[in-house]
Amino acid sequence: MPDWQRAFAAAGATVDVRWWDDATVDPAAVRYVLVWDPEPGRLAKLPKLEVIFGSGAGVDFITADPDLPRHVPLVRMATPGAAQRMGEFVTWAALSLLKGARRIGAAQAERRWDYFEPEWTAPETTVGIMGLGHMGAAAARMLQGIGFPVIAWSRTPKQVPGVRSYAGGAERDAFLTATRILVCLLPATPETRHILAKPLLDALPDGAGLVNVGRGSQQKIEDILAALDSGKLSGAVLDVFDQEPLPPEHPAWTHPKLLVTPHLASLPPRSERAAHVAKLIAAHERGEALPNTYDHARGY
Ligand code: NAP
Ligand code: GLV
Repeated sequence: MPDWQRAFAAAGATVDVRWWDDATVDPAAVRYVLVWDPEPGRLAKLPKLEVIFGSGAGVDFITADPDLPRHVPLVRMATPGAAQRMGEFVTWAALSLLKGARRIGAAQAERRWDYFEPEWTAPETTVGIMGLGHMGAAAARMLQGIGFPVIAWSRTPKQVPGVRSYAGGAERDAFLTATRILVCLLPATPETRHILAKPLLDALPDGAGLVNVGRGSQQKIEDILAALDSGKLSGAVLDVFDQEPLPPEHPAWTHPKLLVTPHLASLPPRSERAAHVAKLIAAHERGEALPNTYDHARGY
């Protein structure tokens, strides 16, 4: 809490910042909350709540609350630093797949001189991004910067320089067929649940790579492990899982073609998130519309 309080003060916020479990806080005095995964029912007990700020870009852990006060605007985090970090992570993941980073790391751990020649270069490797929003667009720019051709698939058509846009169910298979490394940057919605499963993986070229930085609910891990075993996928980087932390006994930890990262692709520091929220609170108090609000009908 002292970190958060200092960060809000440094951002010039005039709000009184208190910890969620501070027993001296009158629930009727709370006008704003900044949360990641509140206990179900907690937000409904704040009768004067004006805005819920999600501390991440995905707010599925907030909307999972059956008692979520739906009349209160829910703002998704979207800072330049978050997009920068995501772009860096996705570029690192794509290069790791290209250069065989999992194999290199395993050989080093065993002091084994495992010489091999990575087959592909970036310009020969089309990266297909599912979800071309705040995060996807930043990833596309950075990938293009080092020579990857980039295509993308989203609900509606997009215009991002140099990125061929595919949209909707009708164009999904054409997008997958043209993709060598698939990056998932979709929000968690009923439509995207278990999208990364056998039927979608089968539509990719043999030996494709996979990066999931969306949500664990989007992947069927047993199908991904089977595709890695069969060679349908040559490698994968998974940052998100159904159960986090991933349990120590989970087979994903030891799969020789899989890099597991602990949901760290993109989280900007508290100072940046506090400054962003302070700016939005000031805008709200001036009567301005809030950006990047969650749409209950769309599900993100
Ligand atoms: P965003 O700006 O809202 O973009 C979401 C994109 O997904 C949009 O292009 C949207 O298309 C597309 N989309 C949504 N539903 C779709 C569907 N059913 N079929 C096809 N496309 C669909 O969100 P964002 O800020 O980029 O974040 C995206 C997600 O990344 C978050 O929800 C979160 O799950 C994940 N994330 C993970 C980390 C991490 O550390 N691992 C960090 C940040 C975010 P339209 O615009 O056409 O509707
Ligand atoms: C992290 O997962 C986020 O949604 O920001």
